[in-house]
Amino acid sequence: MVDRHEDILAAEHEIYYPPPEVVEKAYIKDYDAVREKALADIEAFWAERAQELDWFEPWEKVLDDSNAPFYKWFVGAKTNIVHNALDRHINTWRKNKIALIWEGEPGDQRSYSYYRLWQEVNKFANVLRSLGVKKGDTVTIYMGRVPELPIAMLATAKIGAIHSVVYGGFSEQALADRIHDAQSRVLITADGAWLRGKTVNLKDIADEAVHRSPVVEHMVVVKRTGQQVNMEQGRDYWYHELMSLPIASPHCETEVMDAEDPLFILYTSGTTGKPKGVLHTHGGYQVYTSTTLKWVFDIKDDDRWWCAADPGWITGHSYIVYAPLILGATSFMYEGAPNYPYPDRWWRMVEKYGITILYTAPTAIRGLMRFGDAWPKRHDLSSLRLLGSVGEPINPEAWRWYYRVIGKEKCPIMDTWWQTETGGFMITPVPSYPLKPGSATKPFPGIDAEIVDEEGDPVKPNEDGYLVIKKPWPGMARTVWGDPDRYVKQYWERYKEKGYYLTGDSARKDEDGYFWIIGRIDDVIKVSGYRLGTAEIESALVSHPAVAEAAVIGIPDELKGNVIWAYVILKQGVEGSDKLVDELKQHVRHETGPITVPAKIFFVDSLPKTRSGKIMRRVLKARALGKDVGDTSTLAD
Ligand code: PRX
Repeated sequence: MVDRHEDILAAEHEIYYPPPEVVEKAYIKDYDAVREKALADIEAFWAERAQELDWFEPWEKVLDDSNAPFYKWFVGAKTNIVHNALDRHINTWRKNKIALIWEGEPGDQRSYSYYRLWQEVNKFANVLRSLGVKKGDTVTIYMGRVPELPIAMLATAKIGAIHSVVYGGFSEQALADRIHDAQSRVLITADGAWLRGKTVNLKDIADEAVHRSPVVEHMVVVKRTGQQVNMEQGRDYWYHELMSLPIASPHCETEVMDAEDPLFILYTSGTTGKPKGVLHTHGGYQVYTSTTLKWVFDIKDDDRWWCAADPGWITGHSYIVYAPLILGATSFMYEGAPNYPYPDRWWRMVEKYGITILYTAPTAIRGLMRFGDAWPKRHDLSSLRLLGSVGEPINPEAWRWYYRVIGKEKCPIMDTWWQTETGGFMITPVPSYPLKPGSATKPFPGIDAEIVDEEGDPVKPNEDGYLVIKKPWPGMARTVWGDPDRYVKQYWERYKEKGYYLTGDSARKDEDGYFWIIGRIDDVIKVSGYRLGTAEIESALVSHPAVAEAAVIGIPDELKGNVIWAYVILKQGVEGSDKLVDELKQHVRHETGPITVPAKIFFVDSLPKTRSGKIMRRVLKARALGKDVGDTSTLAD
């Protein structure tokens, strides 16, 4: 491995120009000019984009900023995102186009035309209605990467209910907390999920979560693995059984929604405390996600788009489910691990399905790079025309490998910076724009991003600062579910006077105006691109009977970006041992899920704290990395 810091400095002067055939095909040929024009009048710009979609009734006002930061977009308009994603295609030639191709980890395959997907969604929407789900209710969805997941999301949205998808890699307490916060009376899950040739017992986890959060009245269970599960009479129903009842008619009226009506809640980790439910709405989100996908990945009717994320995260919500369907694209979705049964599983599928655009995360790229060039070289990857990256900064070394070995130096890489809260891509190139490995390049048209100091003033080129967004955009989160104060506090209070949105990331801009994202400046840790909160993992540790107190930090890791280290104070009389380390790891896995398990656990007698009792993770981290601990004047001890 090369030195990352040195490599980034070198990459600043390494420019990759797009091949002429890419520029010729691109929707946006002069990115800078389009960006400039959009920023000059964001309302006119977004109104023009919104006109590409169907609305039951038009808006009276594009942007209402009278109650900032609670911005409203397309005020007065009536719509439903599912109308744009499915219904409207059924009256066009796209009716018979493939919407979704899916491959299961064991090798089974399914594909859905727009017509078939529409029917399945209608059927399940009717099932949900028969279970008493109404407009404005929340439905929690917890399953693996199977087609029933997008179907459940779309069916929920179709009848005006609000989905809350919990990533299938989370475990009991994490699921229970999210069900409780959303107060969902219906939970949609599966018996199990395939992962690396083994099955995960999702239904068992769901049962325990419902035991802890008993608001759930009904569970709908998709049969995926066929493993033995408990079905509680009167509460639990098999998906396939409900779908074969007469109530599951293939016709279902789409609920007419206000543009600002809630579409979904997605829980994400913030600075402190419990995960927050980020809320997105029908109108602005559909405009934002479809515009960004169309321009950044140049989606055309003959494309086969593969967003390799999980539908359980924002990347999957926006770019597996909603945006590709709105654009009438053909998507591919894969259930399992990239290296199962062999490290060429992905490349085999790129060849087999003729994937034209692959969008994934740096951690996956680094993971596959580790197996060497021979695996991808065994396959014909010539169908690819564009590549993408998201989730964390991509190190130039991985970027070059992706560009050279996967893209054969003819596929530009769209490094897209964005967040759960932003709904869609925010800082990103378009295919016609010159690239620098490791830079997400420039803000998308209509996005006013800046790097500022403590006072909110722009920093000089090449200086680090806080990444902020200075103007609202249609895909922005509207609030934190049930906690509007937290929304204000977390994102808007810091630069209140100026009205800037605080992203929680630090970044810098080089002399050419290219943005380089450095990473989180709060207590969020990115592990393999997954966004985890220190507080949730610490609570999981403290819920073990041997633990009195715990603090976790993120430590840089070549493969995963970061790994978690935990510092634990044991209760009096408890002795630390290797066995206890294993037990604590097992406990965290069980409570919050495998992705949250600390790589290392240290037993300590005390933790560095401020005089007001706040753990100074910064001090722990500096010490762990052998760095200067910096200003410790607020340290109590
Ligand atoms: O730190 C940034 C990092 O991921 C955070 C957002 O995480 P999440 O809400 O889970 O959404 C991930 C998928 C959109 C950001 O605050 N991040 C995301 N994309 C990039 C990135 N860091 C650098 N480069 C990116 N392309």
